Order: sequence, then structure tokens, then C-alpha cells
Amino acid sequence: MLKILITGASRGIGRALCIEIARNEKSHFALISRNEELLRQLRSELENLGSIAEVFPCDVGNKTEFQDTLKKASIILKGIDLAVLNAGVSYNKWIFEENYSNTFEEIYRTNVFSIAYAIELLPNLMTKNNSKIVILSSLADARGFPSSSAYCSSKSAVTKIAESARIEFKHLGIDVVTVKPGFVKTDMTAKNKFPMPFLMDADESAKIIWKGIKRNKKVISFPLPMVILTRFLYCMPNFLFDFLAKFYKPNFKSHY
Ligand SMILES: NC(=O)c1ccc[n+]([C@@H]2O[C@H](COP(=O)([O-])OP(=O)(O)OC[C@H]3O[C@@H](n4cnc5c(N)ncnc54)[C@H](OP(=O)(O)O)[C@@H]3O)[C@@H](O)[C@H]2O)c1
Repeated sequence: MLKILITGASRGIGRALCIEIARNEKSHFALISRNEELLRQLRSELENLGSIAEVFPCDVGNKTEFQDTLKKASIILKGIDLAVLNAGVSYNKWIFEENYSNTFEEIYRTNVFSIAYAIELLPNLMTKNNSKIVILSSLADARGFPSSSAYCSSKSAVTKIAESARIEFKHLGIDVVTVKPGFVKTDMTAKNKFPMPFLMDADESAKIIWKGIKRNKKVISFPLPMVILTRFLYCMPNFLFDFLAKFYKPNFKSHY
């Protein structure tokens, strides 16, 4: 049985990925997120598909709580073959809005610091023969978009952390995989008021992620039109990006 630890398993992409994996491979899951009730519901679904699952309610932004949970989970699983660091939050917040830095801190605690808390421990907890750490970044790492400075920069940091870890962990026999989705229909995107081109289902995205992991891809980016669009924005000279940004009319209430 494949021994899998996954954060952010209660909803969205994490939940869909657990179900997709269980449909293809009987596994022993350690399910992590804050909502215990939703994790228990997922455990029943996974058990109906022939897998086993353990539930670990935990806030990944709390270092002691998260690291204790990782240790406990690896003891129960007897080592981890696949760790998916998927938990994340996103809030649209203008820099000019009140309490910007509070939102910034919450996003960084969940999206960035949690990755550091996990990857400093995981090499000791992984089974090591072809084990994998999968880290959820985003195609939003390409540029600093308005009202998303905290989220975009957090994902840019995550992409770079995963890239460094991929090099550092190679000699340990641990692969590090970066996942960069475009827009996926989940609770995270449900609150977005702006257009989301090429929005895709969580189940569809889970299929792409699992296929990429099985094929030993190092970076799994999708969907293709958004990959091309964000690559274009990333490579665009700064003067051109700034010129185009002049046509953007912000719609925010400043507290100044
Ligand atoms: N949806 C998209 O369009 C999209 C695009 C690119 C990248 N991503 C990335 O994909 C990942 C999953 O996103 P999603 O769309 O599936 O989001 P989602 O539906 O909002 O689910 C987020 C998951 O993270 C968990 N979580 C959040 N804060 C947590 C905390 N402090 N401690 C433990 N668990 C926490 C939530 O569980 P609890 O609330 O139960 O704790 C939930 O299971 C994120 O890293 C996100 O940035 C999403």
C-alpha cells in the first residue's frame, strides 16, 4: 500500500486528489486539515474505495502543532512514500485596504511557512526509495497581480523553495514535484469576482496531478492555455508589463 500524507485534504484539490489516488491505487492516507468532520467524511469515502485513512486535525500554520502531527502520522504510516503539501489560502486584498499586513501574515503562515515546517522534517520521515514531496504552487507565481500581492508572492516563494529542495534532496532519493494549476473550481475561487479564464473542475485537476506524479514529472503545470499566457507575462519585459498595467482601472476603497 502506498503511504500518503496530504495537507488540505478536507476540500477542493486536496480532497479530489485523495479520491483520484484511491480509485487507482489502494493507499494508506494521513489526512491533514483543520476541519475534522470533513476529514472523517473523506475517510469513509476512501475506505469505500478500499484504502485506509487516518485523520489528523491540525493547523499547518502552527509550527509545533504541524511538526508534531507530521511525526505522529509517519509513525502510524510506518514512513511516508508521498507527501502532498497542498493546504493553502487566498484572499483578495488591496495593499491600500485596512489590515493588509494581517492578511499577508495569514497567507504566508499557511502557504509559505507551513512548507518550511514540513520540508525541514520530511527527509527523516520519508521511506526514501523513490519517495516524493509534492508542493502546490500556482501559475499566479508569474507576476504580482493587483489585489493579490500576498497570494502571488507567497506562491512565487513556494515555487522557489520547491526548486531549491529538488536540488538539495536529489541525493537523498527524494523527488520534489512542483504543481502549478491555473484556475480550479473550489471554495478558494468561488469568492473571486474577476473573470477566471479556462476554469477547470477539481476532479479534472486531480487527474492531471496524479498522472504527472506517476510519470515522474518535476513540474506539473496546467491547463496549457494558462501556462502559455502566464509564461508570456513572465517573460514580458518589465516596461511592457508596466505599460499594459496603465490600462488597468483599480476598483478599491482606500482607507487613506
Ligand atoms: N483553486 C485554484 O484555482 C488554485 C490554483 C492554483 C493553486 N491552488 C493551490 O492549491 C491548493 C489547494 O487549493 P484549493 O483550491 O483546493 O483550496 P480550498 O478548496 O480553499 O481548500 C484549501 C484546503 O487547505 C486547507 N487549509 C487551509 N488553511 C489551513 C490551515 N491553516 N491548516 C490546515 N489546513 C488548511 C483547508 O482545510 P480546512 O479549512 O479544513 O483547514 C482545505 O482543505 C492551495 O495551495 C492553493 O493555493 C489553487
